Amino acid sequence: MSKKTPESEQEIPTTGHSWDGIQEYDNPMPRWWLWTFYATIVWGIGYTIAFPAWPMIREATPGLLGFSTRQEVARDIAAVDEANAQINAQLAGADLNAIEDDPELNQYAINAGGAIFRTWCAQCHGSGAAGARGFPNLLDDDWLWGGTIEDIHYTVAHGIRNEEDPDARFSQMPAFGEILSREEIDQVVNYVMSLSGEPRDADAAETGAQLYADNCATCHADDGTGDRSQGAPNLTDAIWLYSGDYNTLVESVTYARYGVMPHWSGRLSDAQLNAVSAYVHQLGGGEEMATDESEDMPDTTVQ
Ligand code: HEC
Ligand code: HEC
Repeated sequence: MSKKTPESEQEIPTTGHSWDGIQEYDNPMPRWWLWTFYATIVWGIGYTIAFPAWPMIREATPGLLGFSTRQEVARDIAAVDEANAQINAQLAGADLNAIEDDPELNQYAINAGGAIFRTWCAQCHGSGAAGARGFPNLLDDDWLWGGTIEDIHYTVAHGIRNEEDPDARFSQMPAFGEILSREEIDQVVNYVMSLSGEPRDADAAETGAQLYADNCATCHADDGTGDRSQGAPNLTDAIWLYSGDYNTLVESVTYARYGVMPHWSGRLSDAQLNAVSAYVHQLGGGEEMATDESEDMPDTTVQ
C-alpha cells in the first residue's frame, strides 16, 4: 500500500499497518537518534563490565573497577573515627563532672550524645526526650533515680529492671490488689490524689492516710515525695509516669508498675555512654553533683 503526500506528491512506502484507514509511513530512524542509541548500548555494556551490575545468586557481579558503596561508607566512617579518635579518648577517660568545664569537650559530648539519643533512646523517650506514658520525661527536674550526671550515667549504663545486667537498678512495688480490698485501694488512691491536688472523695482520703502510712510510706516516703534509691516516684508533684487520674491510679496501685529499660554498657562505648549522659544531663533537669558535706544527707535534700 502507498499514500501520496500532498506537498511533494512523492511516493513514501508505508509499513502496511492500517488502523481505521490511518496508515504509518515507513521512514528510516534519524541518524542522530540511531547513533545515540548504539552509543548507549556500548556504554551500558561497558558499565556492567566496570561496575557491580548483574545480580547473581549471592551478590552482584563485582565489576572490574572494584567499586563498592559499602566500602565508601566504611572509609568515610573510618575517616570520621580517626578524626575524632583523640577527643573520643579524652571523653572516655573524662571525669563526668569535669566534662562541663571544658567547653570544647562539652560541645562535642552534647552533639555526639544528641545523635546517640536520637538513635538509641528516642523510640522510648521521644525524639525531644519529653517521654510518654511509662517512659519518663528527661527534660524536667523530676527524677525517679536521680538527676546528677553520675546518676544518669549509672541508669544508662545498667538500665532498669532488665534481666541482662545484674547491676541494673531494681525495685518492685507490690501489686496491692492482692493485699488491700477494693475499698481500701479507693481510699488510699483518694489520699494520693490529695497529695498533689483534690481527692475525688475527701472522706475516703482521710481514711486513706493511715493506709498510706502503713503500706506505701516505706517506699514513697512519709510525705509522699518518693525515694530515689528505690526509684519510687514522688507522688506530690503532679508529674505522673502513668497519669494521675483516678482510674489510672487505681490501676497503678492494684497491679503495680514494672518499668524496664535496657542496659547500654557493652553496647555503647565508654565515650558514647559519657556523651549521652552529658546530653541528657544538660537537657534542662540535670542536677549538680552533691558536695561532700551533703553527701551523707538523705536523698530528698539533694533535690
Ligand atoms: C525500651 C525503652 C527504653 C529505651 C530504648 C531507653 N529507655 Fe530510658 N527508660 C525507660 C523506662 C521504661 C524508664 C523508667 C523505668 C522506671 O519506671 O523506673 C527509663 C528511665 C530512664 C532514665 C531515668 C529517669 C529518671 O527519672 O531517673 C534515664 C536517665 C534514661 N531512661 C535515659 C535513657 C537513655 C540515655 C537511653 C538511650 C541510651 C534510654 N534511656 C533508652 C525506657 C527506655
Ligand atoms: C516496695 C516499694 C513500694 C511500695 C511499698 C509502694 N510503691 Fe508505689 N511505686 C514504687 C515504685 C518503684 C514505682 C515505680 C514503678 C515503675 O517505675 O515502674 C511506684 C509507682 C507508683 C505509682 C505510679 C506513679 C506514677 O507516676 O505514675 C503510684 C500511683 C504508686 N506507686 C502508689 C503507691 C501506693 C498508693 C502505695 C501503697 C498502697 C505504693 N505505691 C506502695 C514502689 C513502691
